[in-house]
Amino acid sequence: MAPSRPLIQPSTTITAPKRFVLKNLLCLIIGLVMGIQVTLFWFEDATPMEWRKYSSSNLTKASRDPYSNYAVEYLFNTTRVLCWIITQPENHMTRAIHIRRTWGQRCNKLIFISTQEDERLPTISMPIEEGQEQVWNKTRLALKYIYDHHLNDADWFLKAEDDTFVIMENLRWMLHSYSPDIPIYFGCKIRRHVEPDYIVGGSGLVLSKSALKKFIDEAYENCLEAYDLLQIDQDRILSNCLRNIDVIAGDSRDAFGQERFIPMPPRYVIPTFNMSWYPIEIYHQANENVSCCSPRAVSFHYFTEEDFYIFDYLLYSLRPFGIFQNSSWDLPSKFGDDEVRLKGLQDANILPTILASLTTDSLNKETS
Ligand SMILES: *[C@@H]1O[C@H](CO)[C@@H](O)[C@H](O)[C@H]1NC(C)=O
Ligand SMILES: *[C@@H]1O[C@H](CO)[C@@H](O)[C@H](O)[C@H]1NC(C)=O
Ligand SMILES: *[C@@H]1O[C@H](CO)[C@@H](O)[C@H](O)[C@H]1NC(C)=O
Ligand SMILES: *[C@@H]1O[C@H](CO)[C@@H](O)[C@H](O)[C@H]1NC(C)=O
Ligand SMILES: *[C@@H]1O[C@H](CO)[C@@H](O)[C@H](O)[C@H]1NC(C)=O
Ligand SMILES: *[C@@H]1O[C@H](CO)[C@@H](O)[C@H](O)[C@H]1NC(C)=O
Repeated sequence: MAPSRPLIQPSTTITAPKRFVLKNLLCLIIGLVMGIQVTLFWFEDATPMEWRKYSSSNLTKASRDPYSNYAVEYLFNTTRVLCWIITQPENHMTRAIHIRRTWGQRCNKLIFISTQEDERLPTISMPIEEGQEQVWNKTRLALKYIYDHHLNDADWFLKAEDDTFVIMENLRWMLHSYSPDIPIYFGCKIRRHVEPDYIVGGSGLVLSKSALKKFIDEAYENCLEAYDLLQIDQDRILSNCLRNIDVIAGDSRDAFGQERFIPMPPRYVIPTFNMSWYPIEIYHQANENVSCCSPRAVSFHYFTEEDFYIFDYLLYSLRPFGIFQNSSWDLPSKFGDDEVRLKGLQDANILPTILASLTTDSLNKETS
């Protein structure tokens, strides 16, 4: 090994060595500062300057997160999630980019569904015009695109808006119990309109591989005509399409009955709800002992630019000394197919009716 050259050469002038050292130091500092500035400039000239100071260091995939453990990496490898974010050209640099720089990096694969390609983002352009009346078509075409190109890249397919924040580790932890071969999807389930259940899209919804296949095989073609195109609520159309082909709208609450997909930002639910529709329309009415959100919450909606970075910092960087640093291996157990189906039926309030009719039938038989 060659001896490393001293940073500051010993001065030959005996008269002003201090001045010489200072001058060298100054040059070094100026050089460093300029170097960093130039690097930052090259690194992401597309994003406004101010975001650089909020951005947490180098956000990598969860599997490489310094705080993550073997279980997180195991889940990353075995419960693979492709994230597809519905966006539009005008939001690429105001919303989508912040997902890419924060939670999007923890997806196994991340794609942005838009109507224009963009070299700054992994964007897929759908061959349609931008506009409200096209929103359902965009989702529908996106599902087809993912089916055609990425079916084998993941086990689960997460659809999110460009202002949704997802905690990928908690999503995988929840999904671990379910086989992707079961046609099921999860999200925030509400009661609205006449449908028995309806998953709102703002907090994201995740389809199993089987649900995606079933959608393409059985609903892609005809789910176009089946609904009034003036009805622009794409989440409702998707829920209806999936229900018609017997894809289960799964129960996404935790073991204590607390919601995991929250269709609003934390400041709307903590300390109290300030969205009046939520406690009324939520599918599973919470009892007085249940707080708004699960400690294993999966997602929130309506994030501002700042929220993405603040949340990312709070979740992945900030650590009160001695608190929550020991995450042990506690993966949830797997459900069998029958168990999931039963749970799904129970959840849809169909099972009690079936059981009731069975009992009446058997009673009738007994008495006759
Ligand atoms: C972030 O870290 C990863 C792995 O340590 C590295 O491969 C990648 O180049 C880094 N990215 C940036 C922008 O520094
Ligand atoms: C996850 O996958 C990577 C790449 O295939 C592998 O190196 C790593 O050991 C895996 N980790 C676990 C916990 O399965
Ligand atoms: C959606 O796509 C279908 C098939 O490409 C097309 O016939 C229909 O007009 C589109 N819907 C709207 C609202 O443009
Ligand atoms: C709920 O809280 C948010 C954030 O503080 C505020 O912007 C919004 O106006 C509030 N909504 C209602 C109905 O009070
Ligand atoms: C709430 O908790 C209290 C105290 O543990 C209990 O007595 C009560 O039955 C609970 N309420 C419900 C609806 O579970
Ligand atoms: C972490 O938790 C496990 C099991 O709960 C325990 O055995 C282990 O000693 C803990 N490690 C530390 C560093 O506290």
